[in-house]
Amino acid sequence: MNILVTGGAGFIGNHVVRLLVNKYPQYRIINVDALTYAGNLENLHDVENASNYVFEKINLLQADELSTIFTKYNINTVIHLAAESHVDRSIVSPLDFVYTNIIGTVNLLNAAKKYWKLNPSDKNLFYHISTDEVFGTLGATGLFAETSSYAPNSPYAASKASSDHFVRAYAETYNLPIVISNCSNNYGPFQFPEKLIPLFTNNIIEKKALPVYGDGNYTRDWLYVKDHALAIDLILHKGKIGSTYNIGGFNEWKNIDLVKLLCKLMDEKLNQPIGTSDKLITYVKDRPGHDKRYAIDANKIKNELNWQPSVNFEQGLNETIDWYLENTQWLKNVTSGNYQQYYEKMYFERQ
Ligand code: NAD
Ligand code: DAU
Repeated sequence: MNILVTGGAGFIGNHVVRLLVNKYPQYRIINVDALTYAGNLENLHDVENASNYVFEKINLLQADELSTIFTKYNINTVIHLAAESHVDRSIVSPLDFVYTNIIGTVNLLNAAKKYWKLNPSDKNLFYHISTDEVFGTLGATGLFAETSSYAPNSPYAASKASSDHFVRAYAETYNLPIVISNCSNNYGPFQFPEKLIPLFTNNIIEKKALPVYGDGNYTRDWLYVKDHALAIDLILHKGKIGSTYNIGGFNEWKNIDLVKLLCKLMDEKLNQPIGTSDKLITYVKDRPGHDKRYAIDANKIKNELNWQPSVNFEQGLNETIDWYLENTQWLKNVTSGNYQQYYEKMYFERQ
């Protein structure tokens, strides 16, 4: 297989690339990434010289360059992860999300459609990676299933929902072989420190405030990123063409409970009295349109493909924190410059 992975230099992408490069020496993995603030080749340092790995710096908005990649590498399979992925940024700059997540996805669909029409193969697959946020929000009970209605609430979620619809439409209209998976919140090494767990870990290290949005009683379903990568590998090889799969951790946490657990683990690891990090917790203005609760019914992928999370939350969180504590230089590198200004501005506005 010649697999085009988009967004391979981002958080989930680097775990997917590493898994595929190491597990399948017979495949060629072509990583296409624009290297935005969220993409970093440092994340792939350990595989950059592998003989079955290639990197191409291309923006999804460069439609002609994308098309060229299909010809240059005889691409028969796509795993599409590249996206603008942070909800708070989508509230500030929705158009960036329209460009990358919607137009970028359509550019990629067009490139695949054009090339595969001329070069059909039984390996052709357009695998689109999406999110549970397309389903909107849950009340106190219930779970998102593959059949749940789409009801996106943030510009990010709306852009991902739109991209899902385009992928589906290309299957119906042009017979493009597609599969989609919708996953819950990921955590783990290499996550950019603007998302809850790495941001708060970094802030505890730097003794900065931990800005909890609203009353903190929002619920997310957390999955260790390496388990997501394993699910993607399974769907890539065994998923039913035309299907969608929900992926989740069976692991719901209220934000404030998770933050308190993180504070306790960090106090232990930093050898400081329990309660030290709790003092950094600061309740700030809520995120507009904040989804109350996400929770995934991951029984379809469990029953059909025999996937379930392999890492429990305590183990995954410990590994994640240890990774951030061992990689403070990485944290410094990615939080320098523009990001720092953006974060200070966002935080200031929420006071
Ligand atoms: P991320 O923000 O860490 O990485 C995104 C990557 O895409 C970066 O490497 C970036 O450089 C690249 N990129 C952005 N715009 C681009 C463009 N126009 N052209 C080419 N490359 C571009 O994101 P992530 O958290 O790794 O998420 C990856 C995918 O998984 C996204 O599609 C996201 O919607 C989805 N997802 C994420 C989560 C999560 O919890 N992080 C959960 C479910 C689904
Ligand atoms: O559910 C999947 C989605 O999970 C992915 O599609 C997104 O790409 C990913 O960013 C994530 O979205 P969330 O909005 O749930 O993640 P985030 O880490 O931004 O926030 C998690 C929760 O923590 C949410 O309820 C908001 C809250 N929060 C977040 C930040 C950054 C805070 O209370 N304070 C913060 O500073």
